[in-house]
Amino acid sequence: MQKIIITIDGFSSCGKSTLAKQLARELNYVFIDSGAMYRAITLYFLRNHVDWYNKEQVSKALEEIDLDFHYNEKTNESHMYLNEENVEQLIRDMLVSENVSEVSTIKEVREFAVAQQQKLGLRKGIVMDGRDIGTTVFPNAELKIFVTADPTVRVERRFKELYDKNPNITIEEVRNNLEMRDYIDSNREVSPLRKANDAIVLDNSDLTREQQLKTALKWAKERMIAHAN
Ligand code: DC
Repeated sequence: MQKIIITIDGFSSCGKSTLAKQLARELNYVFIDSGAMYRAITLYFLRNHVDWYNKEQVSKALEEIDLDFHYNEKTNESHMYLNEENVEQLIRDMLVSENVSEVSTIKEVREFAVAQQQKLGLRKGIVMDGRDIGTTVFPNAELKIFVTADPTVRVERRFKELYDKNPNITIEEVRNNLEMRDYIDSNREVSPLRKANDAIVLDNSDLTREQQLKTALKWAKERMIAHAN
């Protein structure tokens, strides 16, 4: 079957990565979490006190950053590596979440991340989730999905995810962080979060994971057949 590129964009905590991971597993494709790349860059900037509004500091820092995904066959998971360190857990910290949207507005940061993302897509057979994947990174992708969910559902999902790691976290903190990220992600100058004209909307507020996967798989198979000819 013809290999295609599948892009999954949408607001924070809409379940994009869950869907992307499931799809990749079913299709035997590579899953790429583009948000993890922006998070790893943010972690590096925070650790090294890089002023991300200073062009020189940003360019110098980006030269020192090596990003890589390592796939673990045992756990069936892909982890983000920053300069050969596994940072998969660290990049989910609240401090990173609070700063990542701002860092992602910086043009040089986006150019750096987008170039690497495009390289990862050269051989097709990938599912990449993010904010600008269908609009900027792969504007010619064969299947573009734009995931949405009710804001209350999103806050609850994110809260559950974070509470296990940090029982001190409050619903308010989670809501504020999501609202702030939605705002910055949709209003930045360079590639803001936007549904691509040819993307299909998937509202998963009332869907189980299985239902959402079934729907997306059907779309993927249709596109593979259409592009095989
Ligand atoms: O998907 P996520 O929540 O882990 O993404 C973290 C942040 O990274 C998000 O708030 C905005 C930024 N991001 C982006 O600007 N472009 C992408 N393609 C992916 C993420």
